[in-house]
Amino acid sequence: MEVGYRHVDTAQMYANEGGVGDALRASGLDRADVFITSKLNNGFHEPDDARKAFAETLTQLGSDYVDLFLIHWPLPTLYDGDCVSTWKTLEEFKQDGRARSIGVSNFQVSQLERLAAESDVVPAVNQVELHPYFQNDAVDAYDRAHGIATQAWAPLAQGKVLGDPALADIAGRLGKSPAQVVLRWHLQRGTIVFPKSTTPARIKENFEVFDFELEPADAETIDALDRGEAGRDGPNPDVFAYIPS
Ligand SMILES: NC(=O)c1ccc[n+]([C@@H]2O[C@H](COP(=O)([O-])OP(=O)(O)OC[C@H]3O[C@@H](n4cnc5c(N)ncnc54)[C@H](OP(=O)(O)O)[C@@H]3O)[C@@H](O)[C@H]2O)c1
Repeated sequence: MEVGYRHVDTAQMYANEGGVGDALRASGLDRADVFITSKLNNGFHEPDDARKAFAETLTQLGSDYVDLFLIHWPLPTLYDGDCVSTWKTLEEFKQDGRARSIGVSNFQVSQLERLAAESDVVPAVNQVELHPYFQNDAVDAYDRAHGIATQAWAPLAQGKVLGDPALADIAGRLGKSPAQVVLRWHLQRGTIVFPKSTTPARIKENFEVFDFELEPADAETIDALDRGEAGRDGPNPDVFAYIPS
């Protein structure tokens, strides 16, 4: 917050919504000046469970609303493959104003198509793994074509792209770090980012990405680092079925 960040990405699964609420109050910032996202945990997709869990999110945050609430994972192999009733429950939260906007996370094209066919509200965002080694093109293209903003989780591939020689070359020429170059690449392609760091100097570094621009040739060099599905580092949403205990 001191550096200037105003977007906080939390989740029921992270068990840190209480800490986010405490930090918000300690910051002295107005609630309206901070954008808070939280996400429905995997065990709570049934409508009544989702209602209770969402109320608990607001209690934990100490706020009467969230700016954005997401279905964390689609879980197509659980709940009889039904993500629509969960989505319709999130629509209630939007309707009563306790969620200013609603969206999804880790949704594949097939699940987005189901929501389009069976519900009336288009997700505001789809938060997916996306970084130079895994550009998640099909999902990102669907999002763009349907007015869904793509948010990149693991925008730095959890640090794994940062040693790439192509990034070192661009960073060296621009006098920036590889992480700054990657974050700038995301911003220039219109992807929303929220890099994570527990290191104060990196938190500051990751915010200093608004004073330079990548030339098209450098952006294309980073585009060419995509490894397709082989570049995915996290779970595959088609089979991920983890329910936290
Ligand atoms: N929706 C989902 O399913 C989902 C899944 C995963 C994550 N997320 C969200 O996405 C956020 C970010 O993703 P992530 O944490 O997975 O990955 P990330 O932001 O790509 O990478 C975080 C890692 O990169 C390191 N790092 C950060 N800045 C750096 C820099 N400037 N130079 C060198 N290393 C740097 C951090 O190390 P240090 O901490 O040691 O500095 C940390 O190990 C998470 O906080 C979470 O909110 C969502």
